[in-house]
Amino acid sequence: MEKFKNYINGQWVDAKSGKTFQNINPANHDDIIGEFALSEQADVDEAVKAAKEAFKKWKLVPAPKRGELIKKAGDIFVRRKKELARIMTREMGKPTFETEGDVQEAIDTAYYAASETRRLFGYNAPSEMYEKVNLSFRVPVGVCGIITAWNFPVAVPSWKILPAIAAGNTVVYKPSKESPHSGVIFAEIMEEAGIPAGVFNLLTGKGSMGNMLVEHPDIDLIGFTGSTEIGLKIGEICGRTNKKCSLEMGGKNAQIVLDDANLELALEGVLWGAFGTTGQRCTATSRLILHKGIYDEFLDKLKVRAESLKLGDGLKEDTQVGPVIHDNSLENIDRYVKIAIKEGGRLICGGERATEGDLVKGSFYKPTVIADVLPSHTIFKEEIFGPVLAVIKAESFEHAIELQNNCDYGLSSSIYTKNINNAFKAIRDIEAGITYINAPTIGAEAHMPFGGIKGTGNGHREGGWTVFDIFTEWKTVYIDFSDKLQRAQIDNY
Ligand code: UN1
Repeated sequence: MEKFKNYINGQWVDAKSGKTFQNINPANHDDIIGEFALSEQADVDEAVKAAKEAFKKWKLVPAPKRGELIKKAGDIFVRRKKELARIMTREMGKPTFETEGDVQEAIDTAYYAASETRRLFGYNAPSEMYEKVNLSFRVPVGVCGIITAWNFPVAVPSWKILPAIAAGNTVVYKPSKESPHSGVIFAEIMEEAGIPAGVFNLLTGKGSMGNMLVEHPDIDLIGFTGSTEIGLKIGEICGRTNKKCSLEMGGKNAQIVLDDANLELALEGVLWGAFGTTGQRCTATSRLILHKGIYDEFLDKLKVRAESLKLGDGLKEDTQVGPVIHDNSLENIDRYVKIAIKEGGRLICGGERATEGDLVKGSFYKPTVIADVLPSHTIFKEEIFGPVLAVIKAESFEHAIELQNNCDYGLSSSIYTKNINNAFKAIRDIEAGITYINAPTIGAEAHMPFGGIKGTGNGHREGGWTVFDIFTEWKTVYIDFSDKLQRAQIDNY
């Protein structure tokens, strides 16, 4: 069996204990992908030490020079796109057309972050005083611990790691235990791009190791994408240990369809939003809010289309929907479906494990639609992270917005309508970090701010120029050329 190592200070090394863990293919549990280093405290200490040491020099490298290496990483992602996509599909399941898109998002992020190294603009402002200049610069934060989920095994880490390094920080990266192979390839690409030893370090391992990173006194910043449960714990530790902390957590995103919408388009949108990535996106559509005028008609069409989606191994050309990540997740999804039906939801399709033919070898769950869901129902409120769509009936546009906002999360949202006034009212009134008009809730682009309000995040935005608000601090500089003491707020008033 193939054995994979950590990447610390420019070296490929085993965990100090020699311990490993295995990872399996969710589409075929007999397929063991390999053995990965099971990192523990000693490995964390070594990686953080290397990153701390490397920071001293890396922060001094001119930003556009750092950008050249990030650009090179982008070029290598281009070259390895297809190969990497297959590796990602094998370990986390989504079809290769999706994993290729995932790599493309990293490519876009690399080129965008590289170009930003020639901007990274600061501000200057007039001084209150004569012969004095006020400036401000972005400066790197330090050593960043990056902890990410398995559903976007390359794109999401790239959103954090590439801008972090471009801005002059150093990184210790812990990929999910469900997608360590993608993490290893990420490290290979950073190495080949010429990112200096210690600037980027990879540690594979389990959640307990992530905790060690968060607790480590020499880590200055934690960037996290994952469950709300873990994110909130990380936030607490970062509060106690005074680390900068960016959390990207759950969602319970809704697509609204009004009675004047292009229904075919709305149908395509919800199929992609709810069942793309097998519903395992923080941006996935997990609530569909239908205007009463089109409720029955839309549900009929949705049932036919959802039932015809082709489940299978994501490595096969014709697969539309891959497996869920593992059986524990599948059981959790199934539990939610049972609760939904018990609470009064009407099962339209799916609602069970798929076991036909080869599907029996993996963790496949049928695309599921549950209608007549009410705000009091559990599946209206809780994130499921699987191919389960709750359908809710709205009496009016205003009621649809009220249902959309009746939610503890606030990541993505969508409305299908041809009424321009309602579209603009929705943009104004929907409580979410991202709103799509006539497009599904998934599909964020790398150069735009990404993140959510309420329970989804803690006020940060990845993506675009805003990611540098996470990975830089402001340095303010006053230059006095008057040759005398000028006392602010006193001498000039
Ligand atoms: C995630 O699920 O963590 O907008 C990120 C989207 C993707 C990113 C999803 N570009 O759905």
